[in-house]
Amino acid sequence: MNLLAPIERIGRDPRTGGYRRYVWNDADMELREWFAGEAAARGMAYEEDGNGNQVAWWGFDSHARSTDEGGSALLLGSHLDSVPDGGAYDGPLGVVSAFAAVDRLRADDFTPSRPIAVACFADEEGARFGVACAGSRLAAGTLDPARALALKDRDGLTLAEVLTARGRDPRTLGRSAWLDRVGTFVELHVEQGRSLVHSGDAVGVATAIWPHGRWRLDFEGRADHAGTTPMPDRRDPMPAYAATVVAATRRAYEEGARATFGRVEVEPGGANAIPSRVTAWLDARAADDAVLARMLDAILVDAREAASASRVRVEAAVESASPAVTFDHDLRTRLAAALDAPLLPTGAGHDAGVLSAFVPTAMLFVRNPSGVSHSPDEHADDADCAAGVDALVRTVLELA
Ligand code: GLV
Ligand code: MN
Ligand code: MN
Repeated sequence: MNLLAPIERIGRDPRTGGYRRYVWNDADMELREWFAGEAAARGMAYEEDGNGNQVAWWGFDSHARSTDEGGSALLLGSHLDSVPDGGAYDGPLGVVSAFAAVDRLRADDFTPSRPIAVACFADEEGARFGVACAGSRLAAGTLDPARALALKDRDGLTLAEVLTARGRDPRTLGRSAWLDRVGTFVELHVEQGRSLVHSGDAVGVATAIWPHGRWRLDFEGRADHAGTTPMPDRRDPMPAYAATVVAATRRAYEEGARATFGRVEVEPGGANAIPSRVTAWLDARAADDAVLARMLDAILVDAREAASASRVRVEAAVESASPAVTFDHDLRTRLAAALDAPLLPTGAGHDAGVLSAFVPTAMLFVRNPSGVSHSPDEHADDADCAAGVDALVRTVLELA
């Protein structure tokens, strides 16, 4: 809590109490300084890679690149950015818990048998440029730097322009050498559901992440006067969009899956004008890849039918897609036993999901009393956060 307190005000909207920490905005810059300061305060070797991911090393000098330490480090950490109006815990809890665990271990004179690193991944939520886990995907080489640099934010600024304005070199985007020094990643995160409330545990270990992704749907019609255009003469994209939302909701119920439209833009946005365009973002998730693909196909058919009924055009583009992730079986079994913690899956996406394709990866979840997340109401009790740090300490003792 002492570690969370100094960042509590950063990027918080005073009206809602929610956070607006988007990659490379003022709040994000302040959080970057905070992270670098925490690394310095602990005498940890600090680096920011070309993608904006920050790493602090204990027991490894980031500048001395000795080959015999390649692939041996135990990486902890999470992210500090947020969704629009996000909560205080999604991301930051994992970062501060990692620093707190390092402090506890050092206070006990523990000497790790392998290097320990604490990371803050850039742009996990993808709130500004649309691609979730952009920092870890770039570091791992699964997001093309050229595509990333051309992504635009809501003001029409490209990532390349934003990086340059913040004094970063867009040419350094891409695979991160420091990841080659990582042998295991453990991300602690607030639970985004109530499984731990039901099981009565403060901490759990993740089994899997549901496949998920974001699709942008552009419904293009013809602007016209709201009063003088008879209904049959219209080419209004709004009813087509609305019908698509209703259809997607029904499909998600039918499939036991999730479909969400959390962002929509209407042009030109006049109350007395038929819109020329509606752009909407579909977040879709399901328990397995086949169900997700089937649901998406069906929703896109629904969207096309709704568009043709309104005589408008619809185009769909994938912004980010994450296949199902199953966390390393041996690692999760070992941690669940060492921590006496239950195993649970999640419908939320994480950098741990990206890295799990490259290194054995695990996640620890900390109980969230309401289960609410991506909202100012997101919460974890102090005692459970302390239990999370305990679990991370025991994880390091087990693995390092
Ligand atoms: C990230 O939290 C996501 O699941 O979208
Ligand atoms: Mn999140
Ligand atoms: Mn998160």
